[in-house]
Amino acid sequence: MVRLNLSGIFAGALLLATQVQAAAPRLRYMPLGDSITELGCWRAWVHRQLVKDGYDIDFVGSMNSSTNCNNLNYDRQHEGHSGRQAFDMVARGQLKAWLKANPADIITMHLGTNDIRYARNTSTIIGSLGTLIDQMRAANPKMKIIVAQIIPLVKRNKVKETQDLNKEIAHLVARKRTVPDSPIWLVDQSYGFNVTTDLEADNIHPNANGQKKMAERFYPAIVGAIKSLGVKPKTPVQGKSVATPVSPEKMEEVKAWCAAHPKYIKKN
Ligand SMILES: *[C@@H]1O[C@H](CO)[C@@H](O)[C@H](O)[C@H]1NC(C)=O
Ligand SMILES: *[C@@H]1O[C@H](CO)[C@@H](O)[C@H](O)[C@H]1NC(C)=O
Ligand SMILES: *[C@@H]1O[C@H](CO)[C@@H](O)[C@H](O)[C@H]1NC(C)=O
Repeated sequence: MVRLNLSGIFAGALLLATQVQAAAPRLRYMPLGDSITELGCWRAWVHRQLVKDGYDIDFVGSMNSSTNCNNLNYDRQHEGHSGRQAFDMVARGQLKAWLKANPADIITMHLGTNDIRYARNTSTIIGSLGTLIDQMRAANPKMKIIVAQIIPLVKRNKVKETQDLNKEIAHLVARKRTVPDSPIWLVDQSYGFNVTTDLEADNIHPNANGQKKMAERFYPAIVGAIKSLGVKPKTPVQGKSVATPVSPEKMEEVKAWCAAHPKYIKKN
């Protein structure tokens, strides 16, 4: 009797262990950037929408938000660092260390604003962003990468500089689209962003309107990256998603650029 019970317990334990082993690991998503990623609530809204849509995704990074966001219960880990330039992130080897400490499957990058503030030119910034993309792939050859064209920097009237950078970010993403296992997507965070209604008074950071727009722009790309990893929602979709189409005009521009620069585009 006792023996029988024990074997039953062992069989149960074995079954449980097998089930645990068979369960796919949770996907890890790292939001990377500066204060536009660190502060505010776009990450919280993306996280809550993922939960609503039935996705169980682990937000990762060395940083832990204290931003309350109307008492939302959200996954607070991230890698947004106030004041940080892409240039310094590269110079200090920070992304390599962050990805080593907190490996990721999916990453979003909204960076370059501080580089522009400190008068780095477009080609220097693009060089830094390109290096960061290479470091993401060195850390995980299958990294799913989402690169943002950044929101306009109005402080000290740097809107033209952000537009110039955004154009080159589109070209950078097109050039980096050469690794089938590590797709890279462009999300235009400047598209539909209204500098009158969507910025804080500091003319740098998105206000609640702008943060909502950022979440809406990033969301479909993040879901696309999740789907590309074969992960389906665990629970049926509840209600309507906030997802909106991402910048079709910009994609047309990128397609035209790709057509004019065939040597950058690898055909499989
Ligand atoms: C993150 O901060 C919250 C409070 O803001 C705290 O409750 C939580 O334990 C922290 N998590 C980690 C992993 O540090
Ligand atoms: C950009 O800045 C770097 C570093 O100051 C400089 O070497 C380079 O010539 C500049 N490029 C352009 C196009 O101005
Ligand atoms: C931005 O918002 C203001 C105020 O609502 C509006 O007058 C303006 O037309 C908007 N600009 C754009 C580009 O949508």
